[in-house]
Amino acid sequence: MQYKAIKLVKRPTLNITPDVFELVTLETPELKDGEILLRQTHMSLDPAMKGWMSEDRNSYIPPVELGDVMRSSGIAEVVESKSDSFAAGDRVHGMIGWTEYAVSNGAGLRQLPPGIPEEAVLCVLALPGLTAYQGLMVIGKPKAGETLLVSGAAGSVGSMVGQIAKAEGLNVVGTAGSDEKCSWLRDELGFDHAINYKSDTLAKQLAKATPDGVDLYFENTGGPVQHLAFSRMNAHGRIVVCGMIADYNTDKPAPGPSWLNIIRKRLRIQGFTMPDHWDEVPAMSEKLLAYYLAGKLKYRAHKLDGLESAIEGINLLFSGGNHGKLMVVL
Ligand SMILES: NC(=O)c1ccc[n+]([C@@H]2O[C@H](COP(=O)([O-])OP(=O)(O)OC[C@H]3O[C@@H](n4cnc5c(N)ncnc54)[C@H](OP(=O)(O)O)[C@@H]3O)[C@@H](O)[C@H]2O)c1
Repeated sequence: MQYKAIKLVKRPTLNITPDVFELVTLETPELKDGEILLRQTHMSLDPAMKGWMSEDRNSYIPPVELGDVMRSSGIAEVVESKSDSFAAGDRVHGMIGWTEYAVSNGAGLRQLPPGIPEEAVLCVLALPGLTAYQGLMVIGKPKAGETLLVSGAAGSVGSMVGQIAKAEGLNVVGTAGSDEKCSWLRDELGFDHAINYKSDTLAKQLAKATPDGVDLYFENTGGPVQHLAFSRMNAHGRIVVCGMIADYNTDKPAPGPSWLNIIRKRLRIQGFTMPDHWDEVPAMSEKLLAYYLAGKLKYRAHKLDGLESAIEGINLLFSGGNHGKLMVVL
């Protein structure tokens, strides 16, 4: 059977342009013993893909090699199985790639929890929720009553961070790039304050929303919020550095704040990436499932239609055009 896949054939310079990809038609091979054939139904698009496309071999994960199918996680249905661990009809989540079909030996694939919609798995239980839980709960160590500031708050990770923090009794302030996103955070997700970081009065609004300072800053973006957040940190505050999307499409990363405040305020600042924590996934998934089933984690999915839509669609992440978890439905 023929299917479509998208290969990385060029490394992007600043922006991801369509010419870095090649759409190819491939033929499904005969399965060997132990293998399964997957038909992908939901493919995740993530800001980290920009890094995976670069030549950098000193990062936390090797680059996608030129000529290989672009890397991504997704949800698939097992359509044929020569494996004892999977049966036709099973729904699985794992690294599948920019492709309609894939052959797998099952390594790294997890069965979907029964009764949970695919979108909820991708928006809550997969990377966004896991990243939020690891960064906020394990690294940030929040305490009820503290003030959390999260940048990129309306995004897939940020929206989970804010909601978990609310569930844990924190005062939650988020920044996002439009008034519509801020209304969603306040009205639907229950954030205490949400501020449009593009506003001329960002500093004033942030000061008003955090009268007692910031105990925990969850950094998803960099950009103008970073310096202001840094200057509002309380003594013994923690900064969890999850992402710096404002710097992903530039060769001139913005200068960071002076380290003086780290001493004055005795701050703890820690970066992290999820691939270091795969062994903790089962335990974290249980916690996330409990929040989700209790109605504490809402989400919105931004769905693109068909494999080719990923080629242009991935840039919605960098323009802020995505409203919720960006994914391709195949
Ligand atoms: N450490 C890890 O293991 C890990 C895992 C997953 C994600 N991440 C990081 O977490 C961050 C959020 O990822 P996500 O998957 O949840 O994506 P997302 O927030 O759903 O989408 C990206 C959002 O970033 C915002 N953005 C884009 N350019 C920006 C800029 N110059 N300044 C400020 N905001 C900008 C846009 O929202 P606005 O409309 O609000 O501007 C856009 O919607 C990214 O930095 C990503 O790399 C890290």
